[in-house]
Amino acid sequence: MSSGTPEIPDNHHHWEQLAAFHGTGDDDFYDLSEIISGGTRMGAAERAAVDRAMGGENLSGLSGQRVAHLQCHLALDAITMARAGAEVTGIDFSSTALRRAEELARACGVHLHTVEADSRNLPESLNNRFNLVYASIGVIYWIDDLAAFMAGVERILAPGGRFVLVDLHPMLTMIGSLDPLVLDFPYGGNKQFVYSGTGTYANRDADVTWTVASYPHSVAEIVMAVLGASMQLSFLDETCATTTSTGSVATKESDGVYRIRLGRGSAQDPDVLAEPIPLLLTVIATANGEASPTPA
Ligand SMILES: C[S@@+](CC[C@H](N)C(=O)[O-])C[C@H]1O[C@@H](n2cnc3c(N)ncnc32)[C@H](O)[C@@H]1O
Repeated sequence: MSSGTPEIPDNHHHWEQLAAFHGTGDDDFYDLSEIISGGTRMGAAERAAVDRAMGGENLSGLSGQRVAHLQCHLALDAITMARAGAEVTGIDFSSTALRRAEELARACGVHLHTVEADSRNLPESLNNRFNLVYASIGVIYWIDDLAAFMAGVERILAPGGRFVLVDLHPMLTMIGSLDPLVLDFPYGGNKQFVYSGTGTYANRDADVTWTVASYPHSVAEIVMAVLGASMQLSFLDETCATTTSTGSVATKESDGVYRIRLGRGSAQDPDVLAEPIPLLLTVIATANGEASPTPA
């Protein structure tokens, strides 16, 4: 950074860079060969949320449904949902991400529609189209205008359609480091937070440098934005354990699940560990109106 001249954050450029890099090499997060060979990276919380919202088990409720995967990046979960029988549209503001997503979908033998759009300003052509709008892990803290985001979700849902958001819990996004414990991101308040760095959450050594802006939103602010967009809140959950690393500082414990424990546990009994903190937030909401018996 040059002296006295702060760099201007450019989130779009950042995501174009990351979309070009992810899944291309030494990347412990985006294992595309696993997806191409029929595997999935969709976490247990995300699958449970979709089952809760759409009915059925193991994504069976998606069969024949129109799904929008908002801020889809390389569309890994979109491909899993297409394999479950959904007609899926991946939406992202990164054209590179969408091109890579289309290539991946072709390699997987599934069809994926794509729409290049800012999720704060979704195109009118998508209005009332989807039975499910799905967004997961690393979505909401890129958004400065939550009201516009939620209004767009509500607008592109068909009457009675469901919104599923499974995202990093705002408590988790506060953590800069665990040892020493540094909380360097606000819990909420939507104030712009500009920071610079190198690498990506998928590969810390990646040859990319960036300056980005992100926006803290508390659980209350997220819920109020859902309600402000005239959606009904159907389900809210905060979980202290995830099956995916979330690219964060969480530790994979002996049961194969990631947690962050803060505190001392029991001095008397070393088997009594410190309590884990919330890592994921799940929100399910319903658009107003009668659901149609078959996909619109
Ligand atoms: C952390 S990634 C999502 C990762 C995804 N859950 C996955 O499993 O790969 C965030 C995505 O949000 C997209 N994005 C960020 N801000 C956006 C905006 N305002 N409108 C549309 N897409 C946006 C980025 O291009 C990126 O693909």
